[in-house]
Amino acid sequence: MHIRILGSAAGGGFPQWNCNCANCDGVRRGSIRARRRTQSSIAARAGDGDWLLFNASPDVLQQIQGFDALQPARALRDTGIGAVLLMDAQVDHTTGLYMLRESRRALQIWGTAPVREDLSTGNPILRVLEHFCGVQWQELAVDGSEVEIAAAGGLRVRALALSSKAPPYSPHRHAPVPGDNIGVVLRDPQSGRSLFYAPGLGAIEDHVREAMHQVDCVLVDGTFWTDDEMQSVGVTGKSARALGHLPQSGPGGMIEQLDLLPATTRKLLIHINNTNPILREDSAERAELAAHGIEVCHDGLDIAL
Ligand code: MLT
Ligand code: MN
Ligand code: ZN
Repeated sequence: MHIRILGSAAGGGFPQWNCNCANCDGVRRGSIRARRRTQSSIAARAGDGDWLLFNASPDVLQQIQGFDALQPARALRDTGIGAVLLMDAQVDHTTGLYMLRESRRALQIWGTAPVREDLSTGNPILRVLEHFCGVQWQELAVDGSEVEIAAAGGLRVRALALSSKAPPYSPHRHAPVPGDNIGVVLRDPQSGRSLFYAPGLGAIEDHVREAMHQVDCVLVDGTFWTDDEMQSVGVTGKSARALGHLPQSGPGGMIEQLDLLPATTRKLLIHINNTNPILREDSAERAELAAHGIEVCHDGLDIAL
């Protein structure tokens, strides 16, 4: 199985267009040791099949241009993206669907029933796409079952409901339902190797911990270092946990949780917010992650499993 990190930043990207926090300003000026990052997406495939695109980032066109394998050029109009799978209905994970509207066939999109509802009501992207390429919706259940994605080399996917939040425009924003946000276990049917991916993870419940203990690699929420990060930088009043993201540091934080995994498990953080000190390659926080064997994803990183 091959996993390509297309976009490793959270919503807004890094630097964020209107932000002058120390990180965004520093990376723009080249005065800090940090890399630019596009918004949250990965691609995965088993064998040499087409790719499964996880999330359609607002930066998807730039991401496709930066990764030749997504454009195999086998016909006048062609793509290496066999299907799209959505982890939630958030803006940073769905806006890129509009950029894929020239598709020659109906876009095959995998997602849960609540995500389909949000994308047909509060933010009706799926209805808009009916006027362009159309959508072939494939429902993902969160009942523990595994599906085979034939359009992506037969990659196997198991979706897990996560405790997090539906987007602000969801009709059930204040009444969360299982499937608003998912994590996935990807499994290569040939090698049996597996990965757990969850770019938005508010809390690690038992069924999630169990899945994380069984895989070869975890690729999880790296949004915030501290719970009050956005407040201390002065950009919003909301805590990390209120936004559905478990911070890395502190009691019960992501570092503690990842420390419990077997020593052989590869551990990486993704969906990193532009305020996070781990973006600075020479920061004490980045060194602390390294001491715990935790890697920080950057755009263009390849993971071979
Ligand atoms: C989130 O996961 O909380 C988002 O990145 C929010 C957003 O895209 O605005
Ligand atoms: Mn996000
Ligand atoms: Zn910033």
